[in-house]
Amino acid sequence: MPSKSSKITIHMVSSLDGFIAKKDGDISWMESSDSYEKGIELSPEMIEAFLKSIDCYVMGANTYEHALELGWPYGDVPVKVLTHRNLKTERENVEFCSGDLAHLVNNHFKPNYQNIWMVGGAMLTKEFLRLHLADEIVLSMMPVILGDGVLFFDFIGEEQLLHLKDVKAYKDGMVELWYGVKKG
Ligand SMILES: NC(=O)c1ccc[n+]([C@@H]2O[C@H](COP(=O)([O-])OP(=O)(O)OC[C@H]3O[C@@H](n4cnc5c(N)ncnc54)[C@H](OP(=O)(O)O)[C@@H]3O)[C@@H](O)[C@H]2O)c1
Repeated sequence: MPSKSSKITIHMVSSLDGFIAKKDGDISWMESSDSYEKGIELSPEMIEAFLKSIDCYVMGANTYEHALELGWPYGDVPVKVLTHRNLKTERENVEFCSGDLAHLVNNHFKPNYQNIWMVGGAMLTKEFLRLHLADEIVLSMMPVILGDGVLFFDFIGEEQLLHLKDVKAYKDGMVELWYGVKKG
């Protein structure tokens, strides 16, 4: 059974026009040169404490492969990669998973981890939303319009109500929207 206190948070960085990736995979737009005087500045200690609170990452195979190319940012934290392929890794913290997604989340991920972050990409986000598997959505919006690329998610086919839990604006112009997904 899923632990009562475990939760799934979808986190994504997007442009104002809702793209999470450029067509060519360039992510330099995630580094902002903007400056917002009243914004928050996070110290390295605050970032470290926040990252320590995450005890499992879940991602789609495309996001995993992109992360390998760009430089692995997940350290030794357990990472569950959804794939239908027979992928191999030497990283002990990476596990490839397939099968019924709701079953995996409720019977394998949630009973074993408290603070689970689903970090992309678009395809997996759509599945998580359609299956009502996410408890929270954190959208970090950068001050940029990309014009084209991969959308955060599209056409999930139903209305879902959200509860705005928090909004933070940072010194580099990033705005973080923190939502709870209303159930039922
Ligand atoms: N801006 C951000 O915050 C952010 C975050 C993450 C990713 N991204 C970007 O988004 C892009 C990737 O997104 P994406 O939508 O193309 O792909 P994705 O969601 O990362 O991965 C999709 C793949 O995951 C596997 N998969 C999905 N659902 C599955 C399931 N239920 N069971 C088994 N396997 C499943 C399939 O791979 P197989 O073919 O192996 O079966 C599928 O092709 C990259 O460019 C990445 O850099 C951006």
